Amino acid sequence: MTDLISLAANAPKAELHLHIEGSFEPALMFEIARRNGVKLPFASVEGIRAAYDFSNLQEFLDIYYQGMSVLLKRQDFYDLTWAYLTRAAADNVIHTEIFFDPQGHTERGVAFADAVDGITRALADARAKLGMSSKLIMCFLRHLSEEDAFATLEDAVPFLSVIDGVGLDSSEVGHPPSKFARVFAKAREMGLRVVAHAGEEGPPDYVWEALDILKVARVDHGNRALEDKKLVARLAGEGMCLTVCPLSNLKLCVVDDMKDHPIKAMLDAGLKPCINSDDPSYFGGYVNDNFAALIKALPLNRKDVEQLLRNSFEGSFLDAPDKQAVLAKLDDYLASA
Ligand code: ADE
Ligand code: ZN
Repeated sequence: MTDLISLAANAPKAELHLHIEGSFEPALMFEIARRNGVKLPFASVEGIRAAYDFSNLQEFLDIYYQGMSVLLKRQDFYDLTWAYLTRAAADNVIHTEIFFDPQGHTERGVAFADAVDGITRALADARAKLGMSSKLIMCFLRHLSEEDAFATLEDAVPFLSVIDGVGLDSSEVGHPPSKFARVFAKAREMGLRVVAHAGEEGPPDYVWEALDILKVARVDHGNRALEDKKLVARLAGEGMCLTVCPLSNLKLCVVDDMKDHPIKAMLDAGLKPCINSDDPSYFGGYVNDNFAALIKALPLNRKDVEQLLRNSFEGSFLDAPDKQAVLAKLDDYLASA
């Protein structure tokens, strides 16, 4: 078991499901709040951590939006992103595709350009200093209207050279993918990649809608797809990547115990899951912690772990030559590990 944990930890890997605002560590949150003169409703780092006890997605989201509200300036977004990138590099992440929630900032009066500037400068520095490649995906908040999402897509037009795709996140139940059919069609027309959170808390029907209506290239989470055999066959047949987030699933009570996590069932059903940290500061761990938690709780074998690592690159939005190069790096590592 320890061997498999270190095999996964030391392996080059990609992370495909990471909300940059969810990587906001309490110490940095306090520092940025202080320099911006913003008051947090917590007295200490320990006080913040104690509040991270969630019984569902909404309880987490309420605290997550509160946390990101201290981000005001370009430098704040840079510092947040750089902190994640250096932490991810320590976990041997060599490629990352990060989400950000522009509406979580623009609705507080922060310019779209300021968020994008800070994030993309850090991504450029990661390329130069850490050798880490990246893609940037902006998510629409699904509890807001499609009209709002259209306005956000419009905001993105001057930045299309640095934004690779759109996603869909926030409160899932009651906000099905079909609510965003037209804005996703427009995003696809504009040449953007599209992904969506589906089947985290929402039913298998939402995964069908993400596939058939939004025409996603990846499904974020997808846990509840396992309730529908035809859906499993469809996802497996298409080789659709599922960006699975085990510690998130545990913290948000999508699973009651890591021993009940469906990752092994997904692999055995021929699905293509990869492992991600979602909101690592809130859920108790970065990507290697997620691998370790699964390996400790479940009878995963070496083939399973290798497959999960491979899926992270295969499911990425890297172009074909870059994908081949990172897969070759992984194969070299596995051959000697
Ligand atoms: N926003 C940040 N993390 C999320 C998650 N796990 N599900 C939906 N929206 C999110
Ligand atoms: Zn997520």
